[in-house]
Amino acid sequence: MAAGFPAVRPRRLRRTAALRRLVAQTSVRPADLVLPLFAKEGISEPQPVASMPGVLQHTRDSLRKAAVEAVSAGVGGLILFGVPAVKDARGSAADDPAGIVQLALGDLVAEVGDETVLMADLCMDEYTDHGHCGMLTLSGQVDNDATLERYASIAVAQAAAGVHVVAPSGMMDGQVAAIRSALDAAGFGEVAICAYSAKYASAFYGPFRDAAECAPQFGDRASYQQDPAGAGEAEALREVQLDLDEGADIVMVKPALAYLDVISRVAAAVPVPLAAYQVSGEYAMVEAAAANGWLDRDRVIMETLTAIRRAGASIILTYWATEAARRLH
Ligand code: PBG
Repeated sequence: MAAGFPAVRPRRLRRTAALRRLVAQTSVRPADLVLPLFAKEGISEPQPVASMPGVLQHTRDSLRKAAVEAVSAGVGGLILFGVPAVKDARGSAADDPAGIVQLALGDLVAEVGDETVLMADLCMDEYTDHGHCGMLTLSGQVDNDATLERYASIAVAQAAAGVHVVAPSGMMDGQVAAIRSALDAAGFGEVAICAYSAKYASAFYGPFRDAAECAPQFGDRASYQQDPAGAGEAEALREVQLDLDEGADIVMVKPALAYLDVISRVAAAVPVPLAAYQVSGEYAMVEAAAANGWLDRDRVIMETLTAIRRAGASIILTYWATEAARRLH
């Protein structure tokens, strides 16, 4: 070998596709993916979401079809969000047995049942006229403990409608314990909790607020969601530990791509499955750039999913779930 040339050559293992496949360590399985779905009350045709091209607000009928497609593609689960026709201060539609999410869950139980995992977002912002994730005090602050009573009741309504996993996303202190004890007391001890444990007050949720029609009418969510510049990984680990102590079965970090460091730290620390939510803004960013011809859309989608898995998430919530699952077969 000529002096000065390298003897150690990592490129040897990258030479052919077969070599790269042999040494690959990160894979995404269709069953790792969870598809978020929006069910809107009072529409007769599915409605496109302007800031999320390809995502729809579903009718009960189109929702069933989307669920069947996802399940046939091998997607691991579905997470349902309801968009009610009428909103009020206490988010009454959220725990109404005839509310859109409960009806849609019933439809999905009938259509796909135990073939997939039916999850429901458990929060109030889609259901309140003020758009906050909880009950308000007279001065307009989010009242933590009054909100817990509402979350407990919503959990029981979703469980009665047939959900497998409830996913509290409001970041109230004590929400997992309140939900666990309400579910147990109502005879739903088998319903699991996927806690949005480390959820940041993120601008990446912008497009979701169009899809779920839940932008806060005043203020923001910074008093309950975590500060991106806050106490960092320690704060995330503390939130996760509290949720585990309260009975969470799965914990979640959200958003995903801008928080891979948090995913990685939490994955190393917890003994339960870790979910990561590739949120609406992550989706919109890629779709918008691709529509302009600025990115190779399909490769970027798979690269982001691989990065989230590599960071340590075992479950990924993504609006591309069905499409990605098909491509992974
Ligand atoms: C709250 C909730 C939000 C998202 C999931 N659950 C919005 C928020 O916290 O403002 C965002 C999901 C996304 O952006 O894709 N119910």
